[in-house]
Amino acid sequence: MTYNKKSVEDIDVAGKRVLVRCDFNVPVKDGVITDDKRIVGAMQTINYLIAQGAKVILCSHMGRPHNVLDAELKLDKKEKKKIAELPAEEQEAAAAAALEKGKKDITKLSLKIVADDLAKKGINVTLAKDVVGPDAQAKAAALQNGEVLLLENVRFHAAEEKNDPEFSKALASLAEVYVNDAFGTAHRAHSSTAGVADYLPAVCGYLIQKEIAVMGGALEDPKRPFVAILGGAKVSDKIGVINNLIEKVDTLIIGGGMAYTFFRALGNTTGTSICEEDKLDLARELLAKARAKGVNFLLPVDNVIAREYKEDATFMRIYSDSIPDGWMGLDIGEKTQELYSKTIVGSGTVIWNGPMGVSEWENFASGTKAVAESGAISIIGGGDSAAAVETLGYADKMTHISTGGGASLEFLEGLELPGIACLLDK
Ligand code: 3PG
Repeated sequence: MTYNKKSVEDIDVAGKRVLVRCDFNVPVKDGVITDDKRIVGAMQTINYLIAQGAKVILCSHMGRPHNVLDAELKLDKKEKKKIAELPAEEQEAAAAAALEKGKKDITKLSLKIVADDLAKKGINVTLAKDVVGPDAQAKAAALQNGEVLLLENVRFHAAEEKNDPEFSKALASLAEVYVNDAFGTAHRAHSSTAGVADYLPAVCGYLIQKEIAVMGGALEDPKRPFVAILGGAKVSDKIGVINNLIEKVDTLIIGGGMAYTFFRALGNTTGTSICEEDKLDLARELLAKARAKGVNFLLPVDNVIAREYKEDATFMRIYSDSIPDGWMGLDIGEKTQELYSKTIVGSGTVIWNGPMGVSEWENFASGTKAVAESGAISIIGGGDSAAAVETLGYADKMTHISTGGGASLEFLEGLELPGIACLLDK
């Protein structure tokens, strides 16, 4: 999918109220943001708008709040139905528990933590108490040029994920221009990512512009040889990506749990490794398609295997692509690491999505490390591969780490992203 969309630089924003959709859905542990990549990624657009004298209104979701409607505690229809199906004597306690969960979500999933982080990064932000309610409206109306307001979590309204036109209209009424810079949420057709563009002139921010330029450029006009590395647990999660990339790449490298489904499809044994029995035919079809297209399809030639799925499980290397009974493959072996590294080093463009093994456990991380160390990786689809590369300390070696997990997968699949498709063409 190629996009040629207008950006913040193609529209007059001075003195205007500009609604900016960011993806501030950052990981938080014990009240601390553990990865601020998405916040840092949004800053270029925010700083540009401030410098232009816009009245900036930021919005985002955080997590998946439970049964919270209109930022008040009410049970939504689905929850009510579930509770109604319970025995009468259990209903009251179930309703109370659901409301309690909702209350926790409101505190836990407030964007206050993001407002505080932006302030630490030099962007002073006022946080509204609601999204489209009286507080947001009053604060948006009072904004001066160059000031920044952050609305509360848009998913405190169930209407957001339903792309409800009334909610989209209410959001749009706060502003005169809409900027989408939430690449990580661009695969969702929600009110704040797509619906709002029906009511305002809509352009992209610098983050979306960069993501589509880098990933789109690699897919449409790669330097050859073009190599894709795909890992992760399941073939079923990556079918669309494999299908699309087979059309484009010279070499497809497979690692991670999904390799074992391919092994089995080829008639090898896989012991107790993760294997999708119902995807064996599909795996055979993908292998045949790669063969027909002349794509070099690389599977591991040796493996690190363990007795059980545990961080400190007994493990060994086997120089084979067949796994013995009672053992499971948890990483690619040394020979495979050499083969993959050599292939990557000789390539022109590399796209990587998904770790090669259970990279969060030291004993099964060397495959992912070897690929990261090979030095020629250019583009990392976000999600688990981005997290692996960052945790293992190789982020600096990469040309581009996408801020999108699901969004970058759908982009690599060649699917249209509603949050980008809705923006004005150049
Ligand atoms: C993500 O983290 O992938 C995005 O923020 C989208 O979140 P979602 O999967 O809850 O829509």
